[in-house]
Amino acid sequence: MARFCNLSVKCIIAQNLPPTHKGREKTVAMTSPSLPSDLRAALDGKLDGLSRQDIAARAALISKTYRDGGNSITIKSEVDALAYALVRMPATYAAVTACLNALLEARPDLTPQSLLDVGAGPGTGSWAAAEAFASLRQFMLLDINAALLTLARDLSRDHPRLSAMTYRRDPAALDEVEAADLVIASYLIGETGYAERHQLTERLWARTRDTLLVVEPGTPAGYQRIIALRAQLIESGAHVVAPCPHDLECPLSKPDWCHFAQRLPRLRAHIQVKGAELPFEDEKFSYVVLSREPAPRHFSRVLAPPDVGKVEVSARLCTADGLENAKVPRRDKPAYAKARRWRWGEAVVDKS
Ligand SMILES: C[S@@+](CC[C@H](N)C(=O)[O-])C[C@H]1O[C@@H](n2cnc3c(N)ncnc32)[C@H](O)[C@@H]1O
Repeated sequence: MARFCNLSVKCIIAQNLPPTHKGREKTVAMTSPSLPSDLRAALDGKLDGLSRQDIAARAALISKTYRDGGNSITIKSEVDALAYALVRMPATYAAVTACLNALLEARPDLTPQSLLDVGAGPGTGSWAAAEAFASLRQFMLLDINAALLTLARDLSRDHPRLSAMTYRRDPAALDEVEAADLVIASYLIGETGYAERHQLTERLWARTRDTLLVVEPGTPAGYQRIIALRAQLIESGAHVVAPCPHDLECPLSKPDWCHFAQRLPRLRAHIQVKGAELPFEDEKFSYVVLSREPAPRHFSRVLAPPDVGKVEVSARLCTADGLENAKVPRRDKPAYAKARRWRWGEAVVDKS
């Protein structure tokens, strides 16, 4: 347990995080959290001729519905779907990308051929997965919302692989489609009630050939949904790939909750529509990546922004043995230099 609290911190090596990984020891190709340029162009193209004011009003209504605990039921038309995509897709894309980067760090040799994007919305998870995995060839999107699925199809029309995506809208589709190597459910399970969620979890796992990624907002409620799903699927034989370095019960207790943040640039259209002032935002998210095969686990996860002081770096870590408050003293120059670069959410490798 005390491994990280004493000088054996020398054995912890920082792995890379996007988008800048210069000078880090390990080089896994990480995907940028910014929307791909062809997706940005497709969104801009859809905006042509539409009133920004109208879009802004629709986006505000959708956001209010979500804040009040509602769901995407208010997204009824293609313009609603576009308003949703402009204000939320960059952030959910950035969160999914951060999770896929964590998956790639843990399993750099993963080459999924097929993707099932459940609750796909405008196709966010599919775009992020297509960027992360050049191996992906088959994309199946499921969503009960016709307007969002239509938008997903339109946005991907010119993409070399995504344009061949297939869709289903009927709620039973999840039990009928072929299992996929990679299944993504991003910002979906919060839209379901407790009883349905338990079943949905089983149904998602039943369609997972190799790896399942579930992402939720980085709120205490989002985290609760993630750990409930995680526990349920570990019972069913799943193994955690990320963020946890173990399959044990989550060691955090209230008021703590496990969540991470991804910074992303705001689109010009997003700034106009949302009336936002800053050119960037931080998307907070909770997630779990589960696999049918046990993943190699020689890492600890940085659970909060480290405190970089003149005397030492202090960081809260989730390790294979539980929580640790690592302190890396400045007098240990190489270890301190590495620890200075630790980032919230990053996997740091324990080589001991
Ligand atoms: C918050 S949006 C997230 C969209 C996208 N995954 C993302 O991350 O940007 C949730 C999506 O889940 C869909 N959804 C809700 N319940 C569903 C269900 N039972 N089956 C399929 N899709 C569902 C909604 O229609 C909506 O498109």
